[in-house]
Amino acid sequence: MADRPLVHLAIIMDGNGRWAERRGLERVEGHKAGAERVVDLIRNLNKTEIRYVTLYAFSTENWNRSEEEVSALMDLLCSFLDEYGQELMENRIRLLVSGRRDRVPEKCSAKIDEIVKKTSENYDKTIIIAFNYGGRQEITDAARLIAEKVKNGAISAEDITEKTIAEHLYHPEIPDPDLLVRTSGEQRISNFLLWELSYAEFYFTDVLWPDFGLNELQEAIKTYENRDRRFGGRK
Ligand code: FPP
Repeated sequence: MADRPLVHLAIIMDGNGRWAERRGLERVEGHKAGAERVVDLIRNLNKTEIRYVTLYAFSTENWNRSEEEVSALMDLLCSFLDEYGQELMENRIRLLVSGRRDRVPEKCSAKIDEIVKKTSENYDKTIIIAFNYGGRQEITDAARLIAEKVKNGAISAEDITEKTIAEHLYHPEIPDPDLLVRTSGEQRISNFLLWELSYAEFYFTDVLWPDFGLNELQEAIKTYENRDRRFGGRK
């Protein structure tokens, strides 16, 4: 039995492209089906004790995909917020978005701000969408903020601790993930939450993200519950 409840689940939603290709569909159709699983997840969240879910929706490396696919992914996030912003409210779910805003289209960015503000007092559950997110970029951005403070004399270099770094990440108020799920059989973390995943349990499944429903979620939770977490210590 895991000695810590599963409070924060992080997911690399992989395999949308392959799901579509296996059906002779365009890759974009796989992302649409993937977005439907995100909606299911939101609806199923109340059946679990999970309080935070971080979803890797667009990585800083995803800009290297075709223009068509990039713009489809931007549109998908935007229309997801349009369509389900209200449902987030009804389920008392707060939305946060993690990542750099610089290349996100203005329309999408404004929508993100609107829903983040609207849901900001929903304390039951929190969905964090990692969008234009990279783990190395997040640590780099924290280093820049800290360097500025050292330059201004607000803190001294000797006083920088792990806590200082953690406090300058995108969402320092969110506890570190307890479990990372990656779908589609790939077993790597691909620049996702590099700092925050230090002590997370990893769960890899061959199921493609568009096929990841409630049963698969429950299977992942069950596996977590049987893990023995030691955090570098001994039992
Ligand atoms: C990886 O599959 C998935 C992505 C790069 C995008 C994930 C986006 C969604 C699930 C939809 C939008 C999200 C929200 C929050 C509404 P892949 O394309 O790399 O699949 P492949 O490895 O099979 O090619």
